[in-house]
Amino acid sequence: MRFSGRLCLLLFALLLASAILASGSQDPELKQCKHQCKAQQQISKEQKEACVEQCKEYIQEKHRRERGGGEEEIWNKKSPSERLRDCSRGCERQHGEQREECLRRCEEEYQREKGRHEGRGDDNPTDPQQEYQQCRQQCQRQGEGGGFSREHCERRCEEKYKERREREGERGEMYEGRESEEEQEEQGRRGQTPYVFEEQHFITGFRTQHGRVRVLQKFTDRSELLRGIENYRVAILEAEPRAFVVPNHWDAEAVVFVAKGRGTISLVRQDRRESFNIKQGDILKVNAGTTAYLINRDNNERLVLAKLLQPVSTPGEFEVFFGAGGENPESFFRAFSDEILEAAFNTRRDRLQRIFGQQKQGVIVRASEEQIRAMSHHEEGGIWPFGGESKGTFNLYQQRPTHSNQYGQLYEVDSNQYRQLRDLDLTVSLANITQGAMTAPYYNSKATKIVLVVDGEGYFEMACPHMSRSRGQSQGSRRGETRGSTSYQKVSSRLRRGTVVIVPAGHPFVAVASNNQKLQILCFEVNANNNEKFPLAGRRNVMNQLEREAKELAFGMPAREVEEVFRSQQEEFFFRGLRQQQQGRADA
Ligand SMILES: *[C@@H]1O[C@H](CO)[C@@H](O)[C@H](O)[C@H]1NC(C)=O
Repeated sequence: MRFSGRLCLLLFALLLASAILASGSQDPELKQCKHQCKAQQQISKEQKEACVEQCKEYIQEKHRRERGGGEEEIWNKKSPSERLRDCSRGCERQHGEQREECLRRCEEEYQREKGRHEGRGDDNPTDPQQEYQQCRQQCQRQGEGGGFSREHCERRCEEKYKERREREGERGEMYEGRESEEEQEEQGRRGQTPYVFEEQHFITGFRTQHGRVRVLQKFTDRSELLRGIENYRVAILEAEPRAFVVPNHWDAEAVVFVAKGRGTISLVRQDRRESFNIKQGDILKVNAGTTAYLINRDNNERLVLAKLLQPVSTPGEFEVFFGAGGENPESFFRAFSDEILEAAFNTRRDRLQRIFGQQKQGVIVRASEEQIRAMSHHEEGGIWPFGGESKGTFNLYQQRPTHSNQYGQLYEVDSNQYRQLRDLDLTVSLANITQGAMTAPYYNSKATKIVLVVDGEGYFEMACPHMSRSRGQSQGSRRGETRGSTSYQKVSSRLRRGTVVIVPAGHPFVAVASNNQKLQILCFEVNANNNEKFPLAGRRNVMNQLEREAKELAFGMPAREVEEVFRSQQEEFFFRGLRQQQQGRADA
């Protein structure tokens, strides 16, 4: 699709600028980046402006990174075999000999990388800059057959180059040094854990002045540890007041949660259209291939939707399709030949060219007040007082909370309450943690939790056996506390609006609200069928169910003492948070 080609161009401009000028001073980089935007031929004025905006953001982000320990991308460093896989995937878009050539290069790169990986610290075979230039030359040689593959190829060169620079820059630091507890606690912020995703891990799919859609990177691009949820993707849509998101469909099943605002969504089925007014707390399933469009019908408030997508054709990958549209969004009708369109529509081609050539304003445009009124007309004032505005949606906030006390509320909806979640094997829940309070430490028996912070601030901690293993012996021996065969690393990170955290099944996890703000986290729990939540503290915690003898034997101390500890917390699921003196650190 040409649209993604353009998007690549934007990204390419950024990457190019960053690579060329990575070592130079700051201003030229911004200048170069802007220049790249303006020099692009095929894009509209608005896209150019968006591109310039992205340059600015990029520079800001870079400065931010330079100021505060900036190895946020370290976990993107992949093993040679992961990169071989990615590289080979990149070749899939190509054909015939080009593809063979591409695959061969991947294999060569793999062999080189493997050698380097095994002999860490050996001399580098080539200068990174030189390698990068060679890579680009190769792309140019193969690039004649269609714009996309060459851009794609060049983009991979950039990525490789960046990765390599990072890898080399990091070596000295990562495998020695860095011992303090605080630094470990900050690992989430620096992106060393594959379980935490922040702003920079989202890709901007679409953006106009009236809103944007951001898509979280593919989980397995981050780490093999996330393979179990490879076929789920997270996206966030933000629409400014009175924005209209033009009709489109996805090759993915989607569950939408309305995190903020109110709007109207229309779903077009084969023989009818269903329109729902939606508001904060609503959950809605959108079937793959359903043409959907959306308005923010508020004059002041932003509409924010969190989406969990499950691609239906290529695992972990989905595309968006616009039929209604023109140049931007590009209508897929433009891909067909004129003769076909003339015949299909029984209309002359000049009229068709007109109709598919007008729209240039992008995916999210602004509607007039009358248009908003007309489109949000539907069920308003109808069944509203009796609960959900429509049977197509389900409001989480209007459920009885599963757990509720002064420290927080947990709202949950599973496929028994909202049948449409069944296809995705999903439970959706929302934890509203009072400021200064925390959840019980608990784990899920078989579901993997995709946590998205919708509001507020706080932090989480999780016990993880994989991390300590993958971080190697240095960790265990350094801390001198490897007991038995398994040891656990504390994975921890600050939580703020937009942070995404993955909590795999079986992993004990706790979330804490900051002292001065409540914390609201939305959880998509996938693989949810027959999942159980096991609280590890508080009333009804699992340890209380062990026999006395089992406690004695397991803890190696009198059962009475064990019981005293496990029974002192009287609350269930939400607890009073940390005592004052300890909390300063968490909020620092
Ligand atoms: C969330 O908690 C706050 C108090 O911290 C409360 O005022 C608010 O009503 C709660 N929201 C929901 C949806 O329970």
